Amino acid sequence: MKLRAVVRGVGHYLPARVVPNSEFEASLDTTDEWIRSRSGIERRHFAAEGETTSDMAAAAARAALADAELRADQIDAVIVATSTADLTFPSAATMVQDKLGMTSGFAFDVQAVCAGFVFALAQANALIVSEQASRVIVIGAETFSRIMDWTDRSTCVLFGDGAGAVVLEARQGTGTSHDRGILSSDLNSDGRYRDLLYVDGGVSTQNTGYLRMQGNQVFRHAVVKLAETATRALDKAGLGHDDLDWIVPHQANIRIIEGTAKKLGLPMDKVVVTVQDHGNTSAASIPLALSVAKSRGQLREGDLIVTEAIGGGLAWGAVVLRW
Ligand code: UT7
Repeated sequence: MKLRAVVRGVGHYLPARVVPNSEFEASLDTTDEWIRSRSGIERRHFAAEGETTSDMAAAAARAALADAELRADQIDAVIVATSTADLTFPSAATMVQDKLGMTSGFAFDVQAVCAGFVFALAQANALIVSEQASRVIVIGAETFSRIMDWTDRSTCVLFGDGAGAVVLEARQGTGTSHDRGILSSDLNSDGRYRDLLYVDGGVSTQNTGYLRMQGNQVFRHAVVKLAETATRALDKAGLGHDDLDWIVPHQANIRIIEGTAKKLGLPMDKVVVTVQDHGNTSAASIPLALSVAKSRGQLREGDLIVTEAIGGGLAWGAVVLRW
């Protein structure tokens, strides 16, 4: 017997404003064709003025709770994966806790940029298997539109805002890879590469700053590291590529997604793709993709899924879970 962290509910929130690629053509030397062909992105959502990361995170959490048929007071912990929290402190997670009306349990943020949701899932799993929490909401939520340099065509056309959430619940499993829930994780970072993707400001440098990225360098790391981490995570669970039903990748670039799927030996109809509609929503992209995939009827109970992501740090990782 072994405790497993099983997904009981999933939900998401996207801000109302949809921005098609063509909107950037007026202010930047770019085209819809370039953005589509280099990244696969067609449109993205941007938060309204005054709409914050914790607002979107709370909306996604409510949707996930409804899907799980649970009330907020039945949750032990809230983890928000974000690099764009409302305030320097307290955490976005404590704000979500309050917005959900929770007055017990605990809440904290995880900051691993685009890999944040994968890192947060691994933390939630650790809390559940060590019996520190029975039900955890794990949320990925970002307002990257707030850290865009709108004069930099190489970054500002790529990112979007949004939030997704899953409710994880402790259930007894058999201890084999047939169990539902999180089966393994593989987390990595290498700070030598911090200059490839970063924000050039922060609290101790006294300005908010803008996102800076050497996109083609990150791209090169991504295609190698994502397949490696997914393979290592599968290996830890005693599983191989052939066992997979779905890849739910971080949604940064369709060419990275296709390259990783090819390395893992899966056809694209086994890959959940939302990048065309959301752009890169950093830590929100995987839970958004899980929620959209569920609403499309793509995920069935018992399906074996690998999620993988890479981002600023560099930080990267993968989680294997059975739906
Ligand atoms: O989520 C966190 C992890 N991030 C990622 O995974 C992002 C990884 N990187 C990428 O997705 C891709 O590298 C990009 C989509 C960012 C760029 O695609 P690329 O094929 O690597 O292009 P590039 O950066 O090598 O740039 C090619 C050309 C350059 O022009 P020159 O120097 O060849 O004349 C850029 O200046 O495209 C130019 N360019 C643009 N042209 C039109 C860059 N941005 C734009 C633009 N419109 N928006």
